[in-house]
Amino acid sequence: MNGIETETKCETLLVAQEGGVAVITLNRPDAMNALNAKLLSELNTVLDKCDADPEIGCVVLTGGEKAFAAGADIKEMKDKSFADAFNTDFIAPYDAIASHKKPLIAAVSGFALGGGMELAMICDMIIAADSAQFGQPEIQLGIMPGAGGTQRLTRAVGKAKAMDLCLTGRRIDAEEAERSGLVARVVPQTALMEETMKIASKIASFSQPAVAMIKKSINTSMATPLPEGIRQERHLFYSTFATEDQKEGMAAFTEKRKPDFKDR
Ligand code: HXC
Repeated sequence: MNGIETETKCETLLVAQEGGVAVITLNRPDAMNALNAKLLSELNTVLDKCDADPEIGCVVLTGGEKAFAAGADIKEMKDKSFADAFNTDFIAPYDAIASHKKPLIAAVSGFALGGGMELAMICDMIIAADSAQFGQPEIQLGIMPGAGGTQRLTRAVGKAKAMDLCLTGRRIDAEEAERSGLVARVVPQTALMEETMKIASKIASFSQPAVAMIKKSINTSMATPLPEGIRQERHLFYSTFATEDQKEGMAAFTEKRKPDFKDR
């Protein structure tokens, strides 16, 4: 067993490591992987460990075949008062998930609904099985998306489709999700993990500082006007010339060999 596996025992998650890739599986199958406080807390703990582990170059987050996650845990939420919700700020763990440094790929099979879809959108990339179904059904419960659904979804697919999904609660399949710009790739159900692991292993093989800078820079584009984003990108780009990996990557190209990145 690898480092991240041996040291991590969770009630709601399975954790595995293959080479430089950590695989976190949401594991509440009886509740369609509904996201409760325990799961979110454990997920943040594991992501903290991944960020701290230099052996991990990429993280894959997945669920079960039937559900990636069917939303925030309705049974846990239903009796909350406004004061409970406001004072505990129970959505804050989603912000914490988004603040992690290592690239995070969602491998989505089956339902990704409500908070489950929001969790997938927090990830840096979504790979969808052809069985995947995405939706923001909160309107059907008399509430609204609360973990970025109206924000990240609108940035991903534009206002028209975001309004359509959030105001009607209708689900879209993987093909429509890809066409709309929500998911990066659609793969056959049976090949979901194999294809996702290929992508994750490739990312993990590159220079970690460069990978981290790209993630930071793309996420910056979601939150800043273009001139500010370009300014930050330029700064990060020049910073790559301070790394040994930039020298190695360019030397390897000119010497017609594979680079041997050292992540520094
Ligand atoms: C708690 C859930 C759940 C959820 C499913 N279950 N989704 N429990 N919270 N979000 C439980 C069911 O109660 C049931 O347990 C078991 O999982 C299996 O679900 P079924 O409904 O029997 O399965 P099925 O008929 O196949 O339907 C699957 C489904 C449906 C379409 C995914 O379960 C569904 O509509 N779930 C709710 C989807 C939803 O509204 N999500 C948004 C939540 S609000 P028992 O023990 O009862 O049999 C949200 C707000 C986010 O996410 C705000 C910010 C985080």
